[in-house]
Amino acid sequence: MKFSVSELSTIIRQRRTIYPKDHTGRAVHRELIEQILTNATWAPSHGMTQPWRFHVFMGDARERLALFLEQEYLRTTPADKVMPRKLENLVQRPRQSSAVVAIGMERDPSGRISELDELLAMGCAVQNMYLTCTAHGLAGFWATGAILTGDAMRNLLGLGEGGRALGLFFIGYPAIEPPKGYRRPLDQVAVWHTE
Ligand SMILES: Cc1cc2nc3c(=O)[nH]c(=O)nc-3n(C[C@H](O)[C@H](O)[C@H](O)COP(=O)(O)O)c2cc1C
Repeated sequence: MKFSVSELSTIIRQRRTIYPKDHTGRAVHRELIEQILTNATWAPSHGMTQPWRFHVFMGDARERLALFLEQEYLRTTPADKVMPRKLENLVQRPRQSSAVVAIGMERDPSGRISELDELLAMGCAVQNMYLTCTAHGLAGFWATGAILTGDAMRNLLGLGEGGRALGLFFIGYPAIEPPKGYRRPLDQVAVWHTE
């Protein structure tokens, strides 16, 4: 089988984070979300542990998520440390996106695979989500941070001991052109050993 490397490179290089404030609000069909998540599950994992777990919030469930995040922020932040802009972002983002995927990592019960490897596999899975969004012309945004990776999110995901909440992935139709990206050139990040 032959694939188009140039198309793949275009998808990889044109993938951009597009924040929920720049989503149109148009609904993304469940079938597309299923495809995005199925592609996530085709990521590699050491020992085939397949550590990914997902909770998808669409429609009215997004409001429940927004209120949960608001409560959690106010519960865990001392009153004099509350940052209104941060709270606003936390609450508005689920409302602005079409679908929000809470991402969890479940440890293999045998413990034979390191946590590091399970987390690395999760990064591969989320990249598959990002790239599938790009291929569909959809906007994606992976958000982490204390609330989104904290114990309450872990409980919401129903993860076992050692499991970790790894943030939220927001999906929607973009209202903007993808922003211009920038990456360090290869000569700044790669060392070649040839003899
Ligand atoms: C593991 C991970 C966590 C991230 N968490 C956040 C976040 O909490 N808030 C945010 O604004 N961006 C977050 N991002 C998005 C990055 O800021 C973004 O990928 C980076 O600026 C590069 O932009 P690009 O995705 O458009 O290439 C996260 C990205 C990754 C890979």
